[in-house]
Amino acid sequence: MSLSIHILSVLPELLESPFGHSILKRAKEKGLLEIQVHHLRKWAVNEYGQVDDYQYGGGAGMVMMPEPLAAAIEQLSQPRPFDEIIYLTPDGRTLTQSIANRLSLKGRLLLICGHYKGIDQRIRDRYVTLELSIGDYVLSGGELAAAVVVDTIGRLIPGVLNDETSALFDSFQDGLLAPPVYTRPADWRGEKVPDVLLSGDPRKIEDWRHEESVRRTRQRRPDLLKGDEE
Ligand code: 6GU
Repeated sequence: MSLSIHILSVLPELLESPFGHSILKRAKEKGLLEIQVHHLRKWAVNEYGQVDDYQYGGGAGMVMMPEPLAAAIEQLSQPRPFDEIIYLTPDGRTLTQSIANRLSLKGRLLLICGHYKGIDQRIRDRYVTLELSIGDYVLSGGELAAAVVVDTIGRLIPGVLNDETSALFDSFQDGLLAPPVYTRPADWRGEKVPDVLLSGDPRKIEDWRHEESVRRTRQRRPDLLKGDEE
């Protein structure tokens, strides 16, 4: 099982560092994840490297032209088509753990980062199979959102995490927030670690963690308990 992610961007510099550390670095070294960032200018329509133009109907802001995107998508779709062509956009579906779980099982993904006012609608209609947002706020471009999507998906690829880093107990994985965690010392400036965690009784510890998860979720994110995800 391995995943190849291609990213199409007009600002590839923004994506140089996020995947070179920690878990994603290990995923790449293990051959489970491959990330290729492509500069859209490579498919520009003229020698000026033009990839955007004024929008029909008027209004401020440029729109990413269809031809460079189409040429890039078609070339990158060789020799194998993508399982999903994902456009990062604030009007997309909000990314959830459940969407990430599903995408982590695919083999080949293309992420398209928008800039300016976004991409020509005809590219969305013809090629894009999934539109994702990472939350209700506006970024200057899709690159940081793409980095979030890659990080979220990458760590879920089977074989990337081990027992130490298991995703099974992450917040959201079971629809609940994660419980509080503690490390040494057991008494820090007079503040004690809850006794149950020192009890050595795995059943009691598991029960306590579950109760704390539910308590925390009820308090902070009651919407998660209503079971209205995906
Ligand atoms: Cl995917 N793109 C942009 N530009 N802004 C966003 C976003 C994406 N998700 C949340 N805000």
